[in-house]
Formats: sequence, C-alpha cells, structure tokens
Amino acid sequence: RVVYLNGQYVPESEARISVLDRGFLFADGVYEVIPVYGGCLLQEDEHLQRLVRSLEQVRLPNPLSLPQWKSVFAELLRLNPGPERGIYLQVTRGAARRDHAFPKAAEPTVLVMVNPISLPDAELLKTGVAAVTLSDDRWSRCDIKSISLLPNVLARQQAVEQGAAEAILIRQGLAVEGAASNLFVVADGVIVTPPKDRHLLPGITRDLVIELAQQQGYPVMESVIPEDQLSVAQEIWLTSSTREILPVTRLNETPVGDGKPGPAWQQMHAHYQRFKK
Ligand code: PDD
Repeated sequence: RVVYLNGQYVPESEARISVLDRGFLFADGVYEVIPVYGGCLLQEDEHLQRLVRSLEQVRLPNPLSLPQWKSVFAELLRLNPGPERGIYLQVTRGAARRDHAFPKAAEPTVLVMVNPISLPDAELLKTGVAAVTLSDDRWSRCDIKSISLLPNVLARQQAVEQGAAEAILIRQGLAVEGAASNLFVVADGVIVTPPKDRHLLPGITRDLVIELAQQQGYPVMESVIPEDQLSVAQEIWLTSSTREILPVTRLNETPVGDGKPGPAWQQMHAHYQRFKK
C-alpha cells in the first residue's frame, strides 16, 4: 500500500513520522474519512469544507489547496486500486520540542491513505445491529473532527464488549450521536435527528440522509432526542461514511420497534444506494 506523507508517495512500510509529532504526543490534529465507490469520492467537496472548518477551529493553516487535496486523493486511488475504499487523511501541527503551546516553527504533518472499508453486509442489514447507551464523556467541541478520540474509543470498546455494534452517547439526558456515527430515530412517522451544535459531529452522511429524505417527501425534523424517546422509537438508525445507514434493532438488549429494520429505513437505504451510483 502506498500512502501520501508530506508531499511524497511512499510505501506504507517506509512512511515515517517523528516521535515528537504533536499528533502523537498531544493528539493535536484533525482528520477526515471520505468513502469511495467505484473510483468516485462521495460528497468530496462537503468533506473538504468540513476539513477546512476543523483546521480553522484548531488554528492550523490548510497545508494544501482544494485542487491539491483532490489531486492527492486521485493519485492515491490510482496507486491503491480496489472496489470499496475510504480515504483517510489527517493533519497534525507537526514535530517540535514538547510544549503545550503552539511551536513557532513547525511544518504540519499531512498523511493521506486509502483504507478498505467493509460496508455492512446483506446479512447484517437483514437483522440490524445492537446498540447500547453510554454516558458521553467527551469534550464540548465535538463539532471539530479532532484526532483526539480516546472517549470514542473507550465507548466503542465498551459497546463491543457488551455485544453491540455501537454506543449511543447520552449527555445531560439527551441522546447525541454514536461513538463514530450520527443518530436518527423515527417517531410517530417523523424522521428526527439532533440539531447541529458543539456536542456532535456535523456528519456528511447525516446531511445527505436529511436531503434524500426531504427529496422523497418524508417529514424530517432536527430536534433534540431525550434519552427516554429511544425506548419508544419505531426505528433507530446510525449514519456514517463507513457504515452508511445502519438500522439499530436492539437497544440495551430490548427490541427497537418490532425488532427488525423498519420500513422507513428500507426506503432510505434504497435511496442512498441509488444516490451512490
Ligand atoms: N467517523 N460522529 C462521529 C463522532 C464520527 O466519528 C463520525 C464519523 C460521524 C459520522 O460522520 P460522517 O457521516 O461525516 O462520516 C459522526 C468516521 C467515519 C471515523 O472516525 O472513522
């Protein structure tokens, strides 16, 4: 596998970064994950816009212009052929003597690589997945796609150890999002997702699902989801670039709705598959 590191295309086994890299020492950096289907990046401009915003919020200069980012992606995809892939990119504040404050002179470290993604298979989509609710122990700038993911890692691991595919995070009585996904519920026939704020990542898949649902004439509402609404929801979905729209059919060991992926999910999943092509 060939990766892009600081202006060069190198075999992954030869790519090296400094032990002083602030990504390594402080998780001082941001990232993006962009799904690729049949050679096309899904919502490439939207992902790049979010990257620009994340960089601004943590005061990192954008190391590449938008056309440069796009040409790196195209070149890496050419060098790493495959069917369903994801572009992973991260920018850190670079290597400098360890000090919390920004270094005066450091070049950002830019890494881009192509990962295989294993989309949920047909079998999984027939049954849906289990999720558990856990307390949201993250900071109050979850709108930044920061590489500092320890609370997300711990939450996902706890979910996995409880036999679930994802943790739904609860902050002050509200269901916010998953450890690495956004949250939707269907209640009284309305598709509901929490409004964007500093407690959740503005997901690209989330926006796309809202847009596709509106195009199809479904009622969609951006509104907070109290934790107790989860247990009476007809459907629960999780969305992300790597899992698309994932139906949750068991929450905390209790069936969601009738315990099968629901009719609204069936429709939205079909629209999403059509949009991808
Ligand atoms: N994560 N919320 C969180 C906390 C996430 O980490 C992600 C994505 C999402 C969904 O965003 P999008 O639809 O733009 O992928 C929501 C990526 C896939 C990851 O960390 O691997």
